[in-house]
Amino acid sequence: MKPRLSNIAVLLFAFTIAQGRNLETLVPYALDFAKQQLKQSVGEIQDSTKYVRTTLPDGSWKTTRARDWTSGFFPGALWYMHEYTNDPFFKTAAERWTAGITGQQFNSGTHDVGFMVFNSFGNGYRPYPSETHKNVILQAAQTLATRYNPTIGCIKSWDNRKWDYPVIIDNMMNLELLFWAAENGGQKKLKEIVIRHAETTMKNHFRSDGSTYYVLGYDTTSGSVKARNTHQGYADESVWARGQAWAIYGYTMTYRFTKDERFLQTAQRAADYFISHLPPDNIPYWDFLAPGIPNEPRDVSAAAIASSALFELSKYAKEKSQQATYRDAATEILKSLCSAPYLAEGTNSHAILDHAVGNKPAKSEVDVSIIYADYYFTEALLRYQTLAEKK
Ligand code: GLY
Repeated sequence: MKPRLSNIAVLLFAFTIAQGRNLETLVPYALDFAKQQLKQSVGEIQDSTKYVRTTLPDGSWKTTRARDWTSGFFPGALWYMHEYTNDPFFKTAAERWTAGITGQQFNSGTHDVGFMVFNSFGNGYRPYPSETHKNVILQAAQTLATRYNPTIGCIKSWDNRKWDYPVIIDNMMNLELLFWAAENGGQKKLKEIVIRHAETTMKNHFRSDGSTYYVLGYDTTSGSVKARNTHQGYADESVWARGQAWAIYGYTMTYRFTKDERFLQTAQRAADYFISHLPPDNIPYWDFLAPGIPNEPRDVSAAAIASSALFELSKYAKEKSQQATYRDAATEILKSLCSAPYLAEGTNSHAILDHAVGNKPAKSEVDVSIIYADYYFTEALLRYQTLAEKK
């Protein structure tokens, strides 16, 4: 396939413009746009048993149910917007879509109960602590812990797939629910489970260059690794961009709870790979080794997750030069996301960001808007603001 030169020219033009603007003006502008888009999405969907997930060709939202792994992101983004604006509209909406997830505290069929319950109830509990919300989070943590196998030292990610015991890099994200629960009235053994999961993943999911595998298939008798595969990436030995972003975020968060240097180093290895493989406008292609680069779709979700994680990582890195590297990378990624063609302003998309990829090998959600990109983008914008205020 020939490179689409016109698309590359537009990207380079937008990138050059973005370089000339700084985040002090871009961030409030993007937050204001996010506020409008989220408000419009609440009005569009109305029914709080429906959760926005991805955009259709006309730009409107395709919705899903509470048991989908992405359900927590819409209420989570609404909670963030309430935190930013203090507007009661967002509180009411966030409460409605959070309430719809209540039943997922008992969903033992997936590791994604962390994404569902912690991004919704967890983000609501922070500004408005309540026993009811806390109990939902604690129960969800107990439910997730039932998926742990001590022989393997990991929580099982998926059921009924081609692997007996699959563990995916994304699973690191769901550990936050367990860490929080262990520190807030849940069983102390939850912390042992998560630390063991993080250690096992650190040992088996990483290549020597800091890149990560997507799915590991474990042997339930010996606990050893039987297979290293991809699922949504280009190939078993390629580097799926969102998976690499989950690794940075997951290990940075694990360091936040443990202060264990091994996890900080792992987060940095994952970050160093991600940063050193970014294209000039700092938004990764959907897979770092996709064969058609530069004529491959970008993935703003990987960019947003990584930007948010790198802001946090910049606070923990020991050397001043490392702190600057991570803060600068987070800033440059965010700058691009705040600008055309990635900010969905002026497009038909009802979302905040455009140009995400869900699952390219399955030809599903390719080059569309996706709610988790919007969630982590909003989080990154707020993290930037918090860091800027502290300067
Ligand atoms: N956890 C699935 C994904 O990142 O697409």
